[in-house]
Amino acid sequence: MSQTNSERSHYCGEMSLQQIDQTVTVCGWVHRRRDHGGVIFIDLRDREGLVQIVFNPEQKDIFALAESVRSEYVLQVTGTVRHRPEGTVNADLPTGQIEIVAESLTVLNRAETPPFPLDDFHDVGEDIRLRYRYLDLRRPEMQERFRLRSRIIHLIREYMDTHGFLDVETPMLTKATPEGARDYLVPSRNYPGSFYALPQSPQLFKQLLMMSGIDRYYQVVRCFRDEDLRADRQPEFTQLDIETSFMNEAGIQSIVENLMRDLFAQVLSVEFPDPFPHMTYAEAMQRFGSDRPDLRIPLELVDVADLLAEVDFKVFSGPANDPKGRVAALRLPAGSELSRKEIDGYTEFVKIYGAKGLAYIKVNDRAAGRDGLQSPILKFLPDNVIDEMLIRLKAQDNDVIFFGADTADIVTESLGALRVKLGQDRNLYTCEWAPLWVVDFPMFLWDADGERWEPLHHPFTAPATSDIDELKNNPGQCLSRAYDMVINGVELGGGSVRIHDTAMQRAVFDLLGIGEAEAKEKFGFLLEALKYGCPPHGGIAFGLDRITMMMTNTQSIRDVIAFPKTQTASCPLTSAPSPVDDAQLRELGVKLRARAAEAVE
Ligand code: AMO
Ligand code: AMP
Repeated sequence: MSQTNSERSHYCGEMSLQQIDQTVTVCGWVHRRRDHGGVIFIDLRDREGLVQIVFNPEQKDIFALAESVRSEYVLQVTGTVRHRPEGTVNADLPTGQIEIVAESLTVLNRAETPPFPLDDFHDVGEDIRLRYRYLDLRRPEMQERFRLRSRIIHLIREYMDTHGFLDVETPMLTKATPEGARDYLVPSRNYPGSFYALPQSPQLFKQLLMMSGIDRYYQVVRCFRDEDLRADRQPEFTQLDIETSFMNEAGIQSIVENLMRDLFAQVLSVEFPDPFPHMTYAEAMQRFGSDRPDLRIPLELVDVADLLAEVDFKVFSGPANDPKGRVAALRLPAGSELSRKEIDGYTEFVKIYGAKGLAYIKVNDRAAGRDGLQSPILKFLPDNVIDEMLIRLKAQDNDVIFFGADTADIVTESLGALRVKLGQDRNLYTCEWAPLWVVDFPMFLWDADGERWEPLHHPFTAPATSDIDELKNNPGQCLSRAYDMVINGVELGGGSVRIHDTAMQRAVFDLLGIGEAEAKEKFGFLLEALKYGCPPHGGIAFGLDRITMMMTNTQSIRDVIAFPKTQTASCPLTSAPSPVDDAQLRELGVKLRARAAEAVE
């Protein structure tokens, strides 16, 4: 690394045997100071790592100064590099074979005692870490993550450039883009009472760019969504956003699949299958209870409603006879060792997803038939039902079989979540990486509360059929041309081939209950643009934070975003969001409602 015009000659962390006997100058933070029998050792830290500096008492001036430094002081040290004396080599430290004997020392800045120690970091509360994020980011572990994030973005850009994609920026102050979340709004000073929306994604602009003939577009772009936050969701996050013209889903999938294959191979030396397996949405929901199945876990949901329709146990026979119901079983090999307490724990877990209970059968001795089983529901099940069920589930000694019986949605979701939890708790993973495409999503889902169709992806996704009447007559049966890339149970990216025909776009708006006037007001510019020679086009967007999270093996998206928000979308460092003064509100033509004003105060 070049150090031209720098106040240092080398980074601390890059010192090695190569510099033996050289005079070097390093700058950094005091990671740790130790006084040993009249000699002072300081571990100096910069973004490349640590190096040990030795201060001998013979050099009175700098020795006294070294005695006065504390953790996190900023120092500049010049000295000679030497081998560490025998017996003091530190094999755990990349610079552990050498040390610098200080000849001059400048304290560039002092530091107050940090609110948490950086040299011996134990998990401190996240609020404190975020409040002092600039200190938290000094930790080598955090530096490593951001170095990797930067490398990932660099490799992505290199790939996109090589494949002819143009990086085009799209507006941040814009009109609402529906991606299923609430908008962040920005009041306009020039047009009191009117608001910009921050983009939930650049979706409409990237489609317009295809209409402009850009042909291949990409952007590493910030998106804003006001939605409930989780470990893998932030109110502002970064997408790798992509759109192409004259390319069908196979072409788009192939380009981005190769990108991911290259990225994971270069960064983690991981080899992904070529091509990724494809699974339909219907199969994913049926076998794995999720539209983002974690295929590292070998457990599967098995439907058993047909066997239980006649049994004398309403919990099962009710949903088994209900067209909207589902009864499914999940077999956990070697699960009979689960204690009553553990099973109660899993019963509470499925209740989060609306399940009313979690029936189970322990298979202690398969050959012994009914006598070899243990279960509170055994008395309700006739022999022939038990036999057929054990055969269908391929039950073996020491298994436990869990059951879910309810509406199809509740059973699918709760057993799908239980499958993932059992996989985690019992470390059932059969491999390290399991990428796949989930395809053939339904075009619409019925929202029973709102009594209307909702788009499963977004309203610009093309249906599999080009027949408008077919779509209108049977919206619930129609599939879309959408696809999601899923790795290890995480939806890394999602996209689709788009509608490029005005009549079809109008029909989809219509089915979604967006009337002509509303369509014109919200998306008039898109409908108009579709009239002037729109090429067939499609694309995808990846969650860049999620990719980084996966590649750094971190559990929270907040660990790979430099200045993230808390679960309640606030920033403990800057105290955003914060009230603004009356004059500013007046200028914007904004008046707070009484209740909102109280909440702010
Ligand atoms: P979608 O809404 O599926 O598609 O988003 C694409 C990807 O962005 C990531 N993502 C998020 N990451 C962190 N925090 C969030 N709140 C968040 N929301 C989404 C996910 C997701 O897979 N315009 C379409 C894409 C297209 O059709 O081309 C879109 O935004 O990894
Ligand atoms: P109960 O008859 O309510 O005591 O339930 C008997 C067993 O069935 C218990 O183990 C419950 O956890 C389980 N159970 C109850 N409701 C359901 C349901 N909807 N799906 C699966 N198991 C259930």
